[in-house]
Amino acid sequence: MLEVAVITVSDRAFKGEYEDLSGPEIKNILQKSKLNINVVLTVVPDEKEAIRQAIIGNLEKDYIFTNGGTGISPRDITPEVTEEICDKELPGISEYLRRESIKETKNAVLSRGYSGVKGKTIIVNFPGSVKAVSMCTRLLIPVLEHGIKMIKGEKH
Ligand code: MTE
Repeated sequence: MLEVAVITVSDRAFKGEYEDLSGPEIKNILQKSKLNINVVLTVVPDEKEAIRQAIIGNLEKDYIFTNGGTGISPRDITPEVTEEICDKELPGISEYLRRESIKETKNAVLSRGYSGVKGKTIIVNFPGSVKAVSMCTRLLIPVLEHGIKMIKGEKH
């Protein structure tokens, strides 16, 4: 069973100004995949301590997917908070997500999404739109199991 935490980073969703559709979209896609996955959802504001606590509080999971706050708007800080927490960067994931996303929208160059490892957990920042999380989730499904095998020191 792959344990996944999805953290939606959005002031407006947190305040209830709009419904978080991105977190449920990630969960829906993961649960429809062939993988045996358990997903928990959280919504936090674009506040450093809230994001940090949400990530730290899920470090027993295999994966943490954040969505939102990866851009260049004044309150976009998700990549910085994630990098501060991680032991190692996992640049290939974010490079891959941006490279494939640019094929869909040139605006993908504006995402500063970070990927890294903390202990036995892989943390990946997605952009916040439903379109973005849908694409990024599907892109990662083929590598999820191998990633966890590798982080646990298992054989290829
Ligand atoms: N990547 C994909 N695949 N699809 C998207 O719609 N949106 C882009 C980019 N990456 C997008 C994407 C846009 S418009 C922005 S501003 C940046 O992600 C940052 O988005 P965020 O602030 O929601 O993290």
